[in-house]
Amino acid sequence: MAPKITVIGTGYLGATHAAAMAELGFEVLGLDVDPAKIELLSAGRVPMYEPGLEDLLRQHVAGHEGSSGRLRFTTSYEEVADFGDVHFVCVNTPQKQGEYACDMRYVDSAFESLAPLLRRPALVVGKSTVPVGSASRLAARLSELAPVGEDAELAWNPEFLREGFAVQDTLRPDRIVAGVTSERAEKVLREVYAAPLAAGTPFVVTDFPTAELVKTSANSFLATKISFINAMAEVCEAADGDVVKLAEAIGHDERIGKKFLRAGIGFGGGCLPKDIRAFMARAGELGADQALTFLREVDSINMRRRGHMVELARDAVGGSFLGKRVAVLGAAFKPDSDDVRDSPALNVAGQIHLQGAQVTVFDPKGMDNARALFPTLGYAPSALDAVRGAHVVLHLTEWREFRELDPEELGAVVDDRRILDGRNALDPEVWRQADWTYRALGRPRL
Ligand code: UDX
Repeated sequence: MAPKITVIGTGYLGATHAAAMAELGFEVLGLDVDPAKIELLSAGRVPMYEPGLEDLLRQHVAGHEGSSGRLRFTTSYEEVADFGDVHFVCVNTPQKQGEYACDMRYVDSAFESLAPLLRRPALVVGKSTVPVGSASRLAARLSELAPVGEDAELAWNPEFLREGFAVQDTLRPDRIVAGVTSERAEKVLREVYAAPLAAGTPFVVTDFPTAELVKTSANSFLATKISFINAMAEVCEAADGDVVKLAEAIGHDERIGKKFLRAGIGFGGGCLPKDIRAFMARAGELGADQALTFLREVDSINMRRRGHMVELARDAVGGSFLGKRVAVLGAAFKPDSDDVRDSPALNVAGQIHLQGAQVTVFDPKGMDNARALFPTLGYAPSALDAVRGAHVVLHLTEWREFRELDPEELGAVVDDRRILDGRNALDPEVWRQADWTYRALGRPRL
């Protein structure tokens, strides 16, 4: 019999994982402590914008017309413990307020709630991004609390999904990492992932600490790559070079690769910034802080990008924001997402507002989240409305629809045809030909 699956925590990671497991043919029960979220998901709706996720959910959620009925949701740990053979823990691990370390309270609470109810053999699989050493601690706690004792086992199986590509990354991952301490646990994970494994997805079996470290080191590498190209952008600006050409040229070397070399206002979101900080904090606790001092530099290059964008905008409006109107295109931390957590675009918009400008923001999907976080900024219903009367336009999240904007149409309503491209994603020629002063980070001024 195929194992029955539960997914604890139904944020980006959990909601996608639950729908994907149902798609792979398993009976799935998703749990969240937030009843509003459970009500929404049970009605076949997703509480965030993620391409393809709502469709996938509706194909499987019980009660939805024409669905497989394999996916249900609950707020009850009792129900989850009775139902599941494999329990995926997908709760979030945010940065602690005022500290670098990550906050383990949701993971700990998931284990403390589930374990005492496990009366039959079960594999608990951690997916959340945690400080190395957590899995060993949680495994001990699990067998201590579970009525079935050693028959409640732990595995660590980090998740690498990207927002905007969550469904595709979950159904067709680049690799599956299985941190296990027994053959039985490995066998169960191979069964759960039989479909991607049959399609050739590499399966890397490790111990607990390595599995935890794969995730944090992968994110650190990606963050380093972005800050590397942004450091090159700083040098290009000083030397009148072109970072876009430079990235293209170094990317042809397969050892370097083209991806994650887009210079701009840097990385944000719910993962990369907090993961590199938590990694530094944990390395410090382990006495290995020197190994990761470079991540401090990665973080500070990244944060410097935002300040630099603000300076360029201030220069563009004549040295002071007072009495100036600034249009901001983009609020989400990246395109195809409505997530504004640690969004470079909103951070720049907020700084400019604090310095006295009247800021108007437009984002195709992130408006509600942006309004909730920065209620004092101005918001417009379209890009055209946002730029009306603007003294400078800032392009800060590279949505496809911004690339398709007509510079003539926008030019007719702005106060001054000036645009700063914070993502190096617009075509400079198109804007310059329409008489705009176009400037981008790390590129010659012209
Ligand atoms: C990241 C990892 O990619 C993913 O594997 C992990 O599971 C979670 O964290 P995500 O946060 O969804 O995923 O976004 P990602 O696509 O990695 O982008 C992160 C940030 O870097 C965004 O703000 C993006 O705009 C920025 N970025 C990305 C750049 O500035 N330049 C680049 O070349 C690439």
